[in-house]
Amino acid sequence: MAMLALSSRPLSSSSAAFLRSKPPTPHLHRLLLPKPLSSASASPLTPPTPLADPTPAQDADPTPLFLRPASHRVPPAALAAFRRRASALVPPSAPHLHRHLRWLFADASAAASDDGPALLRAPLEDLEALWVRHVRERTPFQYVVGNEHWRDLVVAVAEGVLIPRPETEAVVDMVRAVEGFADGWWADLGTGSGAIAVAVARELGAGGKVFATDVSEVAIGVARLNVRRYGVQDKVEIRHGSWFEPLEDLKGKLMGVISNPPYIPTDDLPGLQPEVGWHEPKLALDGGKDGLEHLLHLCEGLSSVLKPGGFFVFETNGDKQSEFLVDLISTKWSSSFHNVKAVLDFADIKRFVTGYRR
Ligand SMILES: C[S@@+](CC[C@H](N)C(=O)[O-])C[C@H]1O[C@@H](n2cnc3c(N)ncnc32)[C@H](O)[C@@H]1O
Repeated sequence: MAMLALSSRPLSSSSAAFLRSKPPTPHLHRLLLPKPLSSASASPLTPPTPLADPTPAQDADPTPLFLRPASHRVPPAALAAFRRRASALVPPSAPHLHRHLRWLFADASAAASDDGPALLRAPLEDLEALWVRHVRERTPFQYVVGNEHWRDLVVAVAEGVLIPRPETEAVVDMVRAVEGFADGWWADLGTGSGAIAVAVARELGAGGKVFATDVSEVAIGVARLNVRRYGVQDKVEIRHGSWFEPLEDLKGKLMGVISNPPYIPTDDLPGLQPEVGWHEPKLALDGGKDGLEHLLHLCEGLSSVLKPGGFFVFETNGDKQSEFLVDLISTKWSSSFHNVKAVLDFADIKRFVTGYRR
């Protein structure tokens, strides 16, 4: 989560049609490399004043744009005029926005036609309002189109829920590497969009299950949507509440605990790039002093829910936090845990802490 180059990759309309009946399997390539959250700086955009006067859309529908019914016919001239207005908003310093505009059209269009009316999944005014929010208010593109590509999933996201980050994908591989994981019970604490829970659930066997928890009602709603879309309701049980509270009945029964908790030090929040700091939920980012508040709470509660031999993986802000936690767990709680170590992410940052219950 400490990374950020918000790089949603939209689907072609044919992929979108496929998705409505069956979730996708292809692993889509990355289009942008992520930047560390802490070092990301705001490069203020100063776009020209829009020609239209769109009201910012209060789009409460968490259904990703590409999954909405294509019920809006738009004459070619109106579409072309929108394209011109939308392009005019893109400052020369931000060429990537032209790519986002193409992606927005790809997600919004059901049928392309050179002469007849275009068939869109949202009214043109709504798309225009979304586009202005993206360009002028730095609303992440993922919130504009309502999805993010993550592993082989297209995860629904909405404002109020953290956009899952590419580096977090690795936790699913760590879980898969645990002996007997497929028939174990797992907890994904602070599930957010439910990305981890859904990805793990899809790998589980008949006896496997994921308990996905979050304190945020918005996150719970979006996680439910993703669980339903991928048809893993029988494998993921979503529970509302704070960290271990909803797991009272699972003490000593879990094969593993996975968590990507809020870990940004409170003092670093004002330095986050606008897409993150202005738009992503503080509840998902703010790790308190030193960013360790939630991580420490998770470490303390671990031994009561894990069964002997159980595995844990936590994502952290990087090197210093991971080193601190490895040291703490292997000294203070050495009688409870073994094989505790920091694991590198794809940028060679010690991003994760993993270990086993004795
Ligand atoms: C960094 S986000 C991770 C979301 C998701 N797991 C992911 O990797 O994309 C942290 C999540 O923890 C949740 N959270 C914050 N405080 C919590 C608490 N006390 N109990 C449970 N979840 C909490 C937030 O709502 C947010 O969804």
